[in-house]
Amino acid sequence: MDMAAATDRSLLALDWRADFPAIPDGWAYLDSAATAQKPKAVIDAITRGYAETYATVHRGVYQRSAEMTVAFEASRGRVARFIGAGSPEEIVFVRGATEGINLVAQSWGRDNLRPGDRVLLSTLEHHSNIVPWQLAGAEIDVVPLTEDHRIDLDAMAAMIRPEHKLIALAHVSNVLGSVLDARGAADIAHSVGAKLLLDGCQAVPRMPVDVGALDCDFYVFSGHKLYGPTGIGVLWARAGILEAMPPWQGGGAMIDKVTFEQTTFAAPPARFEAGTPHVVGVIGLHAAIDYVEEIGLPAIAAHEAALVRATRDSLSSLNSVRLFGPDDSAGIVSFAVEGVHPHDVGTILDESKVAIRAGHHCAQPLMAALGVDATARASFGVYNGRQDIDALVRGIERVTRIFG
Ligand SMILES: Cc1ncc(COP(=O)(O)O)c(C=O)c1O
Repeated sequence: MDMAAATDRSLLALDWRADFPAIPDGWAYLDSAATAQKPKAVIDAITRGYAETYATVHRGVYQRSAEMTVAFEASRGRVARFIGAGSPEEIVFVRGATEGINLVAQSWGRDNLRPGDRVLLSTLEHHSNIVPWQLAGAEIDVVPLTEDHRIDLDAMAAMIRPEHKLIALAHVSNVLGSVLDARGAADIAHSVGAKLLLDGCQAVPRMPVDVGALDCDFYVFSGHKLYGPTGIGVLWARAGILEAMPPWQGGGAMIDKVTFEQTTFAAPPARFEAGTPHVVGVIGLHAAIDYVEEIGLPAIAAHEAALVRATRDSLSSLNSVRLFGPDDSAGIVSFAVEGVHPHDVGTILDESKVAIRAGHHCAQPLMAALGVDATARASFGVYNGRQDIDALVRGIERVTRIFG
């Protein structure tokens, strides 16, 4: 027997759907790149956080608050281990990747981007890794893509100049699923003394991430794409970088001493966590990391790779379908059906209980580079299996029948 095919089949049969109460039988949820469904373990942790153990953190003198503080800080340690951070103090809790990038742009950018300095992005970036740099007043250069829709590191190496103070790139594209050679990008950045920021939103749910091995300087991700709650995310930065960064939002929890004349600030990470944090979100994120690590990120990566292969194989056999992105995309397949707007594809698929995303995916410059307004996108999670791909393919066959 062909071993690769056998492995594929066993992986396609492996799914964790029963852990997800919000996915009814017969519904193909193929929009995990937008947000992942929540396993019962995460829902239970959130419920316990509000129903049994709830209190504020860091300020209470009573026991419940002290215990919640311990749980909150344990989550910070869990995140640090999850991504290979040097210490829990390198983990800043934010609302999501968007806020993490804005924090770096407003705080690090304010201190480090002088007139004439430049930031290097790529064609495939999410708006949340474009607009914050524009708001920070940075001059932006854009690395093109290769023919198979990866960030072109050869082009990047040719473009990089000492004026580039930062390179900011998606670790995995939310539209194309292209996986960045992050270590290669770090080497290029560091060759001119620039920092590398990786937007890990689409990477952490689907592959092992070790920020030390990647040799990046900043890493951001959102909890809700990692099977955790919305409203919680992570910014990691090297300790020395965080220590040198000024605060970006002022308020409670981020100070050392306040007078009307002068305020001194807390050390990181508290310096960047003004206000009452999303206590239960942090607890839920801990549960989400426990959940994915129990399955194992290598197993999740292999599972999604098999789903992507099967999807690309099936869709490429349909004459009407054009596929985007590289063959080995991570958990995400964008496509177009000839002569049918992606919104119509999405609407007709919904009638067959197949949920995909259709639109520009917050990547309008990428759409322009691909020469389209929008794409249809199927993206996978641990709960998907062969049956979801079959439903997608049957749904697209129906689309082509309807549109002749
Ligand atoms: C690659 C990428 N970066 C950033 C974001 C923004 O994430 P959030 O809206 O959770 O802040 C997303 C979400 O779609 C994404 O896919």
